[in-house]
Amino acid sequence: MESCGAVDTPRLSAELVVELLAGARRVAALTGAGMSQESGVPTFRDAQTGLWSRYDAAELASPQAFRRHPDRVFGWYLERWRTACRAEPHAGHRALAALETMYDDFLVITQNVDGLHQRAGSRDVVELHGSLEAFRCADAGHPADPASVAALEAPASGLVPPPRCAVCGSPVRPGVVWFGELLPQPAVERAWHWVGRCDVLLVIGTSSLVYPAAHLPAIARAVGARVIEINPQATALSERADVWWDERAGTALPALLEHLSRGRSA
Ligand code: OAD
Repeated sequence: MESCGAVDTPRLSAELVVELLAGARRVAALTGAGMSQESGVPTFRDAQTGLWSRYDAAELASPQAFRRHPDRVFGWYLERWRTACRAEPHAGHRALAALETMYDDFLVITQNVDGLHQRAGSRDVVELHGSLEAFRCADAGHPADPASVAALEAPASGLVPPPRCAVCGSPVRPGVVWFGELLPQPAVERAWHWVGRCDVLLVIGTSSLVYPAAHLPAIARAVGARVIEINPQATALSERADVWWDERAGTALPALLEHLSRGRSA
């Protein structure tokens, strides 16, 4: 592992990463909550600011919690969705979207549910953990109209009774993956297939603690791909990555894009 230490400038770090990316044909980028942190969307495990340091995941992010306290769970996700809608993609999201246009084969695989990659212009995005706006009914999975959910009032109590499915009357739930649930199979298949054939895997803003997404770097390594981690904090992956670039996504990715573009036009 080559660490771009804190004394290294983004320029030097970017050059190292550009070297690895220069000959790549097939690139995947695995992103996590840290990717959206600079857009004002909280991460999960950062001390103090992370959602799971302030809320009990078992009480909010499981099918059992939704059955026990539907108003509380629905209200919490509605607020998260509104936060995501208010947020704007940052320069890192936009740089990643621009990188996609430089490769014939480039896939963003995200654990995020906020839609910011797509809003920044990324065209090919696999959402491993679902999407905050993909509301569906709990019993049959009938899609619910996001506009009707957006129109719901959110009282100060944060308790919002889930609307009822227009087709079958069952409660509407957020379209995210909860603890104890399987990831959407088509997303898993595409991500695993792609990473199993990539030359470079960028891993950006994830603690690499949540499986199965955290398996992807090992799959990349197994096929000889280079793994580049971008994260201001060391993670469970850092020691095993080819490069750990200890920088924030909003700084690293624009620098990377700039150096890569310069290299290509030279
Ligand atoms: P975590 O909150 O576990 O990790 C966020 C990571 O982002 C940490 O390693 C931070 O150091 C890093 N980070 C913070 N700010 C950053 C920045 N500006 N640039 C780059 N990195 C930054 O979030 P995830 O790894 O995404 O699952 O969590 C994985 C899953 O756990 C989530 O998808 C969610 C959660 O439970 C579900 O809800 C199913």
